[in-house]
Amino acid sequence: MPFNGAVMSLYEGKIFPYLVNRVCSSEQVMSLKAKVIPLATGKVLEIGMGTGANLSLYNKNRVEFIWGLEPSAGMRKQACSNVEKSAVEVKWLDLPGEKIPLENESVDTIVLTFTLCSIPDWKLALQQMHRVLKPEGKLLFCEHGRAPEVNVQKWQDRLNPFWKKIGGGCHLNRPIESCLKETGFQFDDLQKMYMASAPRIVGYMYYGQASLQHF
Ligand SMILES: C[S@@+](CC[C@H](N)C(=O)[O-])C[C@H]1O[C@@H](n2cnc3c(N)ncnc32)[C@H](O)[C@@H]1O
Repeated sequence: MPFNGAVMSLYEGKIFPYLVNRVCSSEQVMSLKAKVIPLATGKVLEIGMGTGANLSLYNKNRVEFIWGLEPSAGMRKQACSNVEKSAVEVKWLDLPGEKIPLENESVDTIVLTFTLCSIPDWKLALQQMHRVLKPEGKLLFCEHGRAPEVNVQKWQDRLNPFWKKIGGGCHLNRPIESCLKETGFQFDDLQKMYMASAPRIVGYMYYGQASLQHF
């Protein structure tokens, strides 16, 4: 129906990017992302750059430039002021993580924050990240996902279909650790904890650094 279509496009194009910006720039979320993003070096690929909330966290002396991969035009529009203020150059890539338009082994650092939950084909996207990362490169991540307690997992599974609809495809229950291991990454650092003031179904965090598995 046209009305539903107009409401949906207003939600996806304006309201949702605004909400993402509020949440992803909040003090609590930024303090977690600040544990990994300053470690980025060289040519950086940020997957699902959203509204550019992470740009203030990069160390401009260590980063050459950032490829900001973001498939949503609404997010890229909302990102304008953060990109203008950024001390590091941003080169937009307007494709999804499943189709990274870069050469093999061309990226020094991949940054993945609050995004793996929303990528429809997470396996293909991580395989693509594996392909473009240099052999000595690193993947910095800060993602929410599957909680360890069975009673929390039960609610994550129950609420997931509804949450996906209002949260831009976000899954509450992605098992981040096994997703990364399954696609050929190994952990150099992996921290897991609940965010202090978030509901447990959405606040179980995985953050740290991974690299390509060596067989
Ligand atoms: C919750 S936001 C996080 C934004 C940002 N990473 C941050 O931490 O502030 C999730 C982002 O993933 C993006 N996204 C959704 N599907 C994607 C896909 N297939 N590939 C890459 N990004 C995707 C969304 O457009 C959105 O910008």
